[in-house]
Amino acid sequence: MNILILGGGGREHTFAWKINQSPRCKNLYIAPGNAGTKAHGTNVDISPMDFEAVKKLAIDKDINMVIVGPEAPLVAGIYDFFKNDAALQAIPVIGPSAKGAQLEGSKAFSKAFMAKRNIPTAGYREFTQATLQEGLDYIEQLTPPVVLKADGLAAGKGVLILNDVAKAKMEFSAMLDGKFGAASEKVVIEDFLDGIEFSVFVLTDGKDYQVLPIAKDYKRIGEGDTGLNTGGMGAVSPVPFVDEVLMQKVTDRIIIPTVKGLAEDELDYKGFVFIGLIRVDNEPYVIEYNCRMGDPETEVVLPRLENDLVELLVALAEGRLGEQTIQISEKAATTIMLVSGGYPEAYEKGKVMTGFEKVTDSLLFHAGTKQVNDKVVTNGGRVLALTSFGKDFKAALALSNKNAALIDFDKKNYRTDIGFDL
Ligand code: AMP
Ligand code: GLY
Repeated sequence: MNILILGGGGREHTFAWKINQSPRCKNLYIAPGNAGTKAHGTNVDISPMDFEAVKKLAIDKDINMVIVGPEAPLVAGIYDFFKNDAALQAIPVIGPSAKGAQLEGSKAFSKAFMAKRNIPTAGYREFTQATLQEGLDYIEQLTPPVVLKADGLAAGKGVLILNDVAKAKMEFSAMLDGKFGAASEKVVIEDFLDGIEFSVFVLTDGKDYQVLPIAKDYKRIGEGDTGLNTGGMGAVSPVPFVDEVLMQKVTDRIIIPTVKGLAEDELDYKGFVFIGLIRVDNEPYVIEYNCRMGDPETEVVLPRLENDLVELLVALAEGRLGEQTIQISEKAATTIMLVSGGYPEAYEKGKVMTGFEKVTDSLLFHAGTKQVNDKVVTNGGRVLALTSFGKDFKAALALSNKNAALIDFDKKNYRTDIGFDL
């Protein structure tokens, strides 16, 4: 098979590494890819949002499957674009339809989806400019922290948690006034849930499902979970506190009703559902759905998956996912993300990276990197993920930490305390 992966981060490098191990994969293309994906296939410099360019590539290279890494092309309807084009409709796209992707693309949509089937999640209300005053009155009687969420996609920045009612009212007005553009024309105000987060990844064909390894990521820039939110600074899998009892609750109350709900609501969904969860008093609640895999969670989830991923995805596309059995390594995997100094705020690019050859006992997944002549240079905020295995997460982390010190570039930053709360 000829396979095309859309995206160019650490998640997509991990997909490329895994897909390339399958005997079923003949030619692999990654668009746009990065300096790391080249080792597993051919990079093609087009944007996943340029559907016409993706179409041309799919036809020129006789592509048999498209795996969509990031959410933006899914929310923009790349699945539907393929389905509605006579020349493309035979090519399976791994990912939901635009309607299905609303689980991530609209907080109000996902809250209503959950409410309809009593899937445990924080209580909420939604407001627009027309109900601004009601929203302000509502906030007035809340006990902080106040959770404000832009309805639409806001590059991971659309959630604000405020410890002060006056500040919350100001931010709420600013959001409805276009702080996040069209994404915050509608704002969801949620009850604050106090607990510890983890994530479950479900592969579904809209009828059957399979659960991939569980993971936990670390989103804040600073040690001890302090400072600004990032895309993710590291991850571990499995998550020690997620035992069988908790996982059974997740399955019964969340995974099964979610998959059933996709069918009930006629959401065409053949892809990954990333369920962000929080444990409060040993009960699981949904924080959010994403319509794709996580980054850097993928960097620990796929390395623990022992199945041939192409087999699984072919089964998914053919509606045979229910016949598959997931095999997961007993080993723990951890990843540490090296980032550019300044990230998640302004940072510089183009820093020459060295030390790759010194790392022999971690997997290196490139995120924001680029090949320039014979050098690899930084090309983003999140630069490189170092994934390691161990008998438990501590043993794995010792390797990731040791190797994080061996890769060098100007203003390198990373967290040395991933897993500190486990
Ligand atoms: P989201 O984009 O919805 O995942 O939110 C980003 C982050 O905000 C989550 O990973 C949580 O850490 C936090 N968060 C979101 N919703 C809540 C909530 N209702 N209660 C507490 N924390 C939340
Ligand atoms: N690491 C969180 C995400 O991919 O959304």
